[in-house]
Amino acid sequence: MSADKRNSFTLTDNRTGESFEMPLMDGKVGPSVIDVRRLYAQTGCFTYDPGFTSTASCDSSITYIDGDKGVLLHRGYSIEELASKSDFMEVCYLLLNGELPNVEEKEDFSKKITYHTMLHEQVMNFYRGFRRDSHPMAVMVGVVGALSAFYHDSTDVRDPQQRLIASHRLIAKMPTLAAMAYKYSIGQPFVYPRNDLSYSENFLHMTFSVPTEEYKVSPVLARAMDRIFILHADHEQNASTSTVRIAGSSGANPFACIAAGIASLWGPAHGGANEAVLQMLQQIGHKDRIPEFIERAKDKNDPFRLMGFGHRVYKNYDPRAAVMRESCHEVLAELNVDDPLLELAMELERIALSDPYFKEKKLFPNVDFYSGIILKAMGFPTSMFTVLFALARTVGWVAQWNEMIEDPMQKISRPRQLFLGEDKRDFVPMDQRK
Ligand code: SDX
Repeated sequence: MSADKRNSFTLTDNRTGESFEMPLMDGKVGPSVIDVRRLYAQTGCFTYDPGFTSTASCDSSITYIDGDKGVLLHRGYSIEELASKSDFMEVCYLLLNGELPNVEEKEDFSKKITYHTMLHEQVMNFYRGFRRDSHPMAVMVGVVGALSAFYHDSTDVRDPQQRLIASHRLIAKMPTLAAMAYKYSIGQPFVYPRNDLSYSENFLHMTFSVPTEEYKVSPVLARAMDRIFILHADHEQNASTSTVRIAGSSGANPFACIAAGIASLWGPAHGGANEAVLQMLQQIGHKDRIPEFIERAKDKNDPFRLMGFGHRVYKNYDPRAAVMRESCHEVLAELNVDDPLLELAMELERIALSDPYFKEKKLFPNVDFYSGIILKAMGFPTSMFTVLFALARTVGWVAQWNEMIEDPMQKISRPRQLFLGEDKRDFVPMDQRK
């Protein structure tokens, strides 16, 4: 993207009075950026922004978030419209290609994904190396990273055709791998994917069917699953996506990069929050104890945080949370589930949103606040919640990874630091150490 020369920032070094012009670059929408790529060469100084709260790491055309307005767009389409009017395969095509597919394109894409859902038979041996009670995210990090050993013909990142096949393989195989992680944890046999089922139907089939009887996929659950996948598909430069981009910037193969993204997503401050929300609701137990936990969340000396609340970017409502909340009611009503945790969650949301602390800190429910309640109602164990997040986010990671690799300006990501350690000092022989 070329800098708009009419706009720039002037930086003045007050120690010397010297001024430096920093070009301003405007996006299509959203904040402009100050191009500091020549800052170190011109000033001998780095920028300093731990956690990257004010740093654009790249330019991208995939997802745009307006945190103040609670807006989330994928290639210009709102998450609300995509969640209500499209399905996950359409959203995958959109994220990867930039446009919604027509009938033929969607049929062709869905077929390509369907025919990559099977795994090399020996991948199953990796599962048997884990304890049955391993956290399924540990299994996912391991087996996804191992895929490069089986699909070596799609690891050359310089070859567009190999990148395309690896992208399809990753999107297609994540449901199979995730279902296998669940089956392994409960000692049931793995279930092969079926080509006559949709992406979400296939995942539910591989997860919940058993060889001893026919399993009918509930259309309501399949629709809810598909919508949950859409809501988790991509989210600009979040921690795990940035991890995938940094791993990919060294030229690492796509399977290794996605495994790195899964590892980052696992953290409770990120994708691990949906699991942590349910644990928190179970810890609170009853709405009478909500005030106690609200006070703990406000207490600077208490590390407790309200899981599922707050967001680096959304300082209004996370639009995904609103759709998730609506789906929550639909799924629980359809399943005739009266989960007291939903009542507890809604009461917690009501009290938190009326508390001045949360209003002042702009802490609203995020995408993870309600997802766990739906997933629990659908029959998933808490330990599988982040696996489902990783399954859905794979298309976003893959789309962002491709965008980075295809960027002619792409170079290895190598941040600098503010060094606060010891300057050079002489070695101290052992007999002179205290
Ligand atoms: C996801 O980035 C993405 O896009 C992520 C994601 C995606 O789709 O990829 O949206 C998915 O990760 C959603 C977030 C899930 N995480 C949680 O629900 C965990 C609980 N939330 C917090 O850990 C926190 O809100 C973060 C990590 C989400 C955001 O942290 P920030 O932006 O670094 O904010 P912060 O930690 O600097 O907090 C700002 C203030 C602090 O108080 P002060 O130091 O200013 O006095 O708000 C407080 C925090 O103490 N605060 C909370 C809080 N979150 C922030 N206080 C109580 N409960 C919370 N949940």
